[in-house]
Amino acid sequence: MNTQGGIEDNAALLGNAQIARYLFGSFDAMAIRCCVELGIADIISNYNRPTTLSEIATGINSPSVNVDGLGRLMRFLVHRKVFDELPQPEDGDGETVYSLNHYSNWLLSHTNVTMAPMVMFFTDPFMISPLRNLSRSIKEGDSAFKMTHGDDIFDFSLINSEFNKMFNNAMACTTKFTMDVIMSNYKNGFLGMKGTVVDVGGGTGGAISAIVKTYPHLKGINFDLPQVISNAPTHDDVTNVAGDMFQAIPPAETIFMKWILHNWSNDDCVKILQNCRKAIPMDTGKVIIVEIVQHPGQHDLLNDVRVPFDLTMFAYFSRGRERTEGEWKKLLEEGGFHRYKIIYIPEIVSIIEAFPI
Ligand SMILES: C[S@@+](CC[C@H](N)C(=O)[O-])C[C@H]1O[C@@H](n2cnc3c(N)ncnc32)[C@H](O)[C@@H]1O
Repeated sequence: MNTQGGIEDNAALLGNAQIARYLFGSFDAMAIRCCVELGIADIISNYNRPTTLSEIATGINSPSVNVDGLGRLMRFLVHRKVFDELPQPEDGDGETVYSLNHYSNWLLSHTNVTMAPMVMFFTDPFMISPLRNLSRSIKEGDSAFKMTHGDDIFDFSLINSEFNKMFNNAMACTTKFTMDVIMSNYKNGFLGMKGTVVDVGGGTGGAISAIVKTYPHLKGINFDLPQVISNAPTHDDVTNVAGDMFQAIPPAETIFMKWILHNWSNDDCVKILQNCRKAIPMDTGKVIIVEIVQHPGQHDLLNDVRVPFDLTMFAYFSRGRERTEGEWKKLLEEGGFHRYKIIYIPEIVSIIEAFPI
């Protein structure tokens, strides 16, 4: 049966359907948030077998679950491939059963690698409400986040401990899975390092802790703002240091910087890179930058995530941006790094090694 109603030959109608699809994109994010809030992936995982709707409903902590609403949410999520809907077992009571798959595994809460804290952060009202100020931000020039909440994200974190915690948890969860990919694709890079590695803007220290655990010949410093370091746990062979990267960066043989420069303007990045230059030995030092390298015009799943990231930076940081290789090259030159190498890994971010000489 042709369910497209013949629109494939009609450019205007295709355009209409496409805009409608974008318009309802917010339901993708909110349905995933709803799934995390209700703990649906955890409930199915606890059964350890395909699970009926009434079993999922029983697992939800409420005396008055709207089972019809839950069924419609599950229909949507199955359509989006977040769960699998299985043929009903022959000896069953005819109820549909649902199971986890490679998508919903990322929504489990008690696993080593999960995206649940990231889902909760990016769909939180603190992060959603600025998006209604995007056009004002384009007209007037400040970040939509600052227009909405009165402060930049990092200053806002200082005065709002709930937001600070949510932000740090979201960063820590992405760090866990990104570091797994980095560790397995950059083994020789870590093996070739000596002495101390400082993670600039290292958050709660997850990345540097993973590095020194796997490569015990290295010592680590986790360097971040005082409000982040005061909440950072202690990790073996990692020293937590509070400070401001615009003032000075602790001396080390190697600097690791993941998801830092994309938050800042070109001028700010040059200042940070110049401080990195001062902190490492001229002849043997290097900076490892983990960031998105944009590939304009390339359409695939990873690029479909990279492109909106740039708009995300604009909404939340205004002067922040995701950069192309050409933009990185220029920035590195101006910051005092005259040689670089990009290592592409199966992730939205790449590894940029930068050397002073
Ligand atoms: C986007 S987060 C990235 C955190 C971590 N590197 C990761 O990949 O999960 C940016 C980090 O930069 C830190 N930061 C912001 N301004 C800073 C400054 N002036 N000096 C040091 N760290 C700073 C923030 O506190 C935050 O932890």
